[in-house]
Amino acid sequence: MSDTMEKLVSLCKRKGFIFQSSEIYGGLNGCWDYGPLGVELLRNIKEAWWRAMTDRDDVEGIDASILMHPRVWEASGHVEGFNDPMVEDSKTNERFRLDHLLEAAGVDCGDLGFEEMKAKIAELGLKSPKGNELTDPRQFNMMFKTHVGPVEDSANVVYLRPETAQGIFVNFLNVQQAMRKKLPFGIAQIGKSFRNEITTKNFLFRTREFEQMEMQYFVKPGEEEKWFDYWREQRFRWFTEALGIPESRLRWHEHGSGELAHYARQAFDVHYEFPFGWDEVEGVHNRGQFDLGQHEEFSGKQLKYFDEAAREKVLPGVVETAIGASRATMMVLAEAYAEEQIKEGDTRTVMRFHPRIAPLKVAILPLVKRDGMPDVARCIEADLRPHLRVFYDESGAIGRRYRRMDEVGTPFCLTVDSDTLQDDTVTIRERDSMAQERVKIADLLGEITRRISAWKRSES
Ligand code: GAP
Repeated sequence: MSDTMEKLVSLCKRKGFIFQSSEIYGGLNGCWDYGPLGVELLRNIKEAWWRAMTDRDDVEGIDASILMHPRVWEASGHVEGFNDPMVEDSKTNERFRLDHLLEAAGVDCGDLGFEEMKAKIAELGLKSPKGNELTDPRQFNMMFKTHVGPVEDSANVVYLRPETAQGIFVNFLNVQQAMRKKLPFGIAQIGKSFRNEITTKNFLFRTREFEQMEMQYFVKPGEEEKWFDYWREQRFRWFTEALGIPESRLRWHEHGSGELAHYARQAFDVHYEFPFGWDEVEGVHNRGQFDLGQHEEFSGKQLKYFDEAAREKVLPGVVETAIGASRATMMVLAEAYAEEQIKEGDTRTVMRFHPRIAPLKVAILPLVKRDGMPDVARCIEADLRPHLRVFYDESGAIGRRYRRMDEVGTPFCLTVDSDTLQDDTVTIRERDSMAQERVKIADLLGEITRRISAWKRSES
């Protein structure tokens, strides 16, 4: 793990963002728990996405169940094709993804299918990272299987969903009819997905349990490309505007033919420059009529939309936007993390979150624990708490308290001091610039709200 990643993982644990799952039992690989600040950050990211989707009049939300009829996954192609190519170290039985081993050896796997990757491994005579022979590559299905009811036999197998999208496809007509939607329209969903990844890596980046935020946009057949371009533009803008990610740390990656998922006609991923290199955060896919067509065939039910103007039934095409909420959180944490030298021998760690998604918005700090300052501070806390996530702290030197708030990315600290008792003002200290200004207590909510909206990432 890179130095920055190690520091980030350690800060996340220490400050209550992310804990290892079941840590007291030694942890469970690929699973993480969100602590008090992590859950706020995650919820704020999900809220930003939900608002971007459902503040529009052409997108409706749903929340489908995780367990679905097993035929869903036959229709979707996941039983047959949701595989990762895998090899094992013949001595240690450690498992690796074929494409990861090849990429580590400098091979671009973008256009290579399974057979081509197999041939490449043989051609290069690749060994495991421990120098041992590799077993024959094979395909490994990533869906977790379980059973419904008390009897564990093949008749009652169900899967933990590997994507939220299928819950949307099977509800397409329900939503369209209930809400009397006309094409084009979208259905958005946030929820847990599960993948039995061969290797988990890089903290929240690749995990076995994660949350997805997916939107399927149903369009008239033939209009997929137009809407594909439209959604690519919308989604890229969301990263910069809603999350405050600089454009210079984002880029598009187009899927080559060997890389395209079984359902996709065209696919572009948004890549972010993580401390461990550029990698995917979101996929925008042109899925054409694949999914609705498959579900019609496997369920025997019509999923066509009646186009009143043309007086005909059509099977819509689909443009999908799919982003991991946990992977987006990983990106936001990585982007926020900074170590700054204030002066010789004095550095601070600061999480420069966009204030809109910062877990805490305001810290309220009485300068000393006497002269009535805590009482005034508690009144300010009570006024602001219904509107903003606030944190009250009266212990330790004021400089130390500021640094503690910098470390968890709180954008504003309000300090109640002796002047407050005379003139009803407090100092407002900004996390990024560390600049302080006096503001009337009565104006605080408006001033903080204004500053949250006006925030721009400072160049570092
Ligand atoms: N419905 C399409 C779909 O699921 P995907 O590219 O496989 O497409 C979409 O996944 C997003 O879900 C990814 O861009 C990533 O952000 C997130 N994701 C996928 N697998 C993940 C994993 N193992 N851990 C964390 N996030 C993951």
